[in-house]
Amino acid sequence: MSANVHLVDHPLVAHLQTELRNQDTPHGRFRDIIERLGQLLVYEALRQSPTRPHTVNTPLEPYPGTSLAGPITIVPILRAGMGPAAGMARLIPDSQVGHLGMFRDEKKLTPVSYYMKLPTNICDGPVFLVDPMLATGGSANAALDVLKQRGCKQLQFVCIVAAPEGIAKVQEKHPDIPITTAAIDRQLNDKGFILPGLGDAGDRIFGTVE
Ligand code: PRP
Repeated sequence: MSANVHLVDHPLVAHLQTELRNQDTPHGRFRDIIERLGQLLVYEALRQSPTRPHTVNTPLEPYPGTSLAGPITIVPILRAGMGPAAGMARLIPDSQVGHLGMFRDEKKLTPVSYYMKLPTNICDGPVFLVDPMLATGGSANAALDVLKQRGCKQLQFVCIVAAPEGIAKVQEKHPDIPITTAAIDRQLNDKGFILPGLGDAGDRIFGTVE
């Protein structure tokens, strides 16, 4: 595995993603787990993030502490990315959130962009692009293109389940981008769904399964 792919190997992450994959998990609990996994994954992804000195006064004396260097921006790929992004934003103090709307044309399996709202200072700090699923890699690559065109330099991609095909595609186009994931699954099927996967993350998060 490439050094730029960080597979988070942790018993709690393994426990939560097992419950997530279970087709009997109701959508409220599914959404809750997605948010928790978002927190655990960004906690790992933050390891290399820069800090700045920040001295505070305890009740007894000054303490030479640190703060995360900001601004830190979380960018969910809509819609499913909003699930983990909610957890991530709760974990990181003062983080800001940008939105990129993209859905996958289910016939051509190519991303269709429909919305973009990014903070004006997004380039001044770390950016965590997030989507629960990295399938063909088309959506992640298109979103990374947009963020790089905006001038984002400290850019990372966070997902929950990745297909080997998607990782390869992102690494081919954006070899500089670290990927943090809870799982690397076996393969894609002929409809571009990850196997074994967890189904359609967006539908399961928002309860829109037909
Ligand atoms: C899913 C998923 C990713 C994308 C992954 O979104 O959340 O955004 O597909 O596929 P890719 O790697 O092949 O591009 P979907 O199109 O179902 O939209 P949604 O988030 O609105 O449900």
